Amino acid sequence: MKRAFGIVLAIVLASCGSDEPETSPPAETPDDSRLESLTDENPDPKIVEVHLEAKTAIKTFANSPPTSVWTYNGSTPGPLIDARVGDTLVVHFKNDLPEPTTIHWHGVRLPASMDGTPATQPPIEPGASFEYTFTLKDPGLFWFHPHVRSDVQVNKGLYGAIRVRAEAEPIADQEKILVLDDIKLKADGSIPDFLDDTSLMMGRGGNTVLVNGSANATLRFRPNATVRLRLVNAANGRFFNLALAGVKLHVIGTDGGLAKPYDTDRLLIAPGERYDVMLSVPGAAGTSLDLVTEPYNRGHDSGEDPPLNVAHVAIEGEPVTAPAPMPTSTAPLEPLPVASETSPLVLNEKTLPTGEVVFTINDKTAPDVPPLMVPRNTVRAFEIKNESEMDHPFHLHGFFFQVLERNGVPVGTDALVNKDTIVVPMKSSLKIVARFDEPGMWMYHCHILEHAEHGMMGEIHVE
Ligand code: C2O
Ligand code: CU
Repeated sequence: MKRAFGIVLAIVLASCGSDEPETSPPAETPDDSRLESLTDENPDPKIVEVHLEAKTAIKTFANSPPTSVWTYNGSTPGPLIDARVGDTLVVHFKNDLPEPTTIHWHGVRLPASMDGTPATQPPIEPGASFEYTFTLKDPGLFWFHPHVRSDVQVNKGLYGAIRVRAEAEPIADQEKILVLDDIKLKADGSIPDFLDDTSLMMGRGGNTVLVNGSANATLRFRPNATVRLRLVNAANGRFFNLALAGVKLHVIGTDGGLAKPYDTDRLLIAPGERYDVMLSVPGAAGTSLDLVTEPYNRGHDSGEDPPLNVAHVAIEGEPVTAPAPMPTSTAPLEPLPVASETSPLVLNEKTLPTGEVVFTINDKTAPDVPPLMVPRNTVRAFEIKNESEMDHPFHLHGFFFQVLERNGVPVGTDALVNKDTIVVPMKSSLKIVARFDEPGMWMYHCHILEHAEHGMMGEIHVE
């Protein structure tokens, strides 16, 4: 009922060309890579109540033999959780996997007890259940995934997206969520559990790119449409460096919601990051474009990989006669107050005498990285220095941060954004700041999951 009303309202608003912000996303065209929304079981419009079950399933990727995957409710990605800012989300979760797991709600500001990490709850045993419940304070695209053996569990397919819509959203003719991933698919259809034939060093890079779980996905857009793409990189290690055949990508937001818009030809999305992008579909019905990921050197000479196709964009249907305008501005963010203290975090890699490669924070590996103590309601800065030969996407749980400096050079406050995951390029430094207003134990780590599980993970205790 709620949804049907929203769609009608959106159509009315779109058809009268009003500047009023729409309240529901434009309907997605039927697509081979569409995310199914979870059904809200609660009639209260302020509560989204859903069931999620982690379980194994068989999935066929393109022409490959069947693959055994791990899923939420039988699909990978799991179903989309769709909500509005201010809604309370209630998730009845059951673990039907053969091993313990948790759900971490990446980017969502919530009480620590709901954060789904081994620092905040005992892992949920096979056959056991857990109820996650929290209020969605911020609009944006978030995602969820396990925080137990995350390198293995996420790689097997356990991840999903959460879309939290604001009261007012930019108008688009079409909107699509793209959950990006890649897997290493072997000839027999299996996905290896652990990195075998590639080095641990770079994190897992697969041979098959997935968009919403589909290899060779096709996105269907109408000619001249203003399309909104909401992207999340759920891959273990691959950085997507997206380009769409010369079409300008108009970036309108990132991890923590809308931000000052800018245009780019290429959009780098590291594991864990989200971007909110609008574009004008060019050309005539019947033509198509390729969405590709271009080479990007993230260290150790990784920039030599050939470009890979991410999805085909098929331009079809009735041309849009009055496309929605591109947003040109958004309300600026308040800079956080100056931090009284700055904690140094030095990221590096080393090879142990045993030959094992580990990833370090201040020369220690998890779980031996000493926890950082931060008094509640204080603003704390972090000087993150990446001394290694490769980029690391730094992720902080529970709080957004703002970037103050890159390589010691202040970043202007006019382009402030709320991030929870950010690339710290090799041999560079980044100063960030966050307000720690929620007590509890919060993790921070590299979002290349092989790096996180091999040492590059720490905790912040907010007391
Ligand atoms: Cu998306 Cu600690 O993770
Ligand atoms: Cu890393």
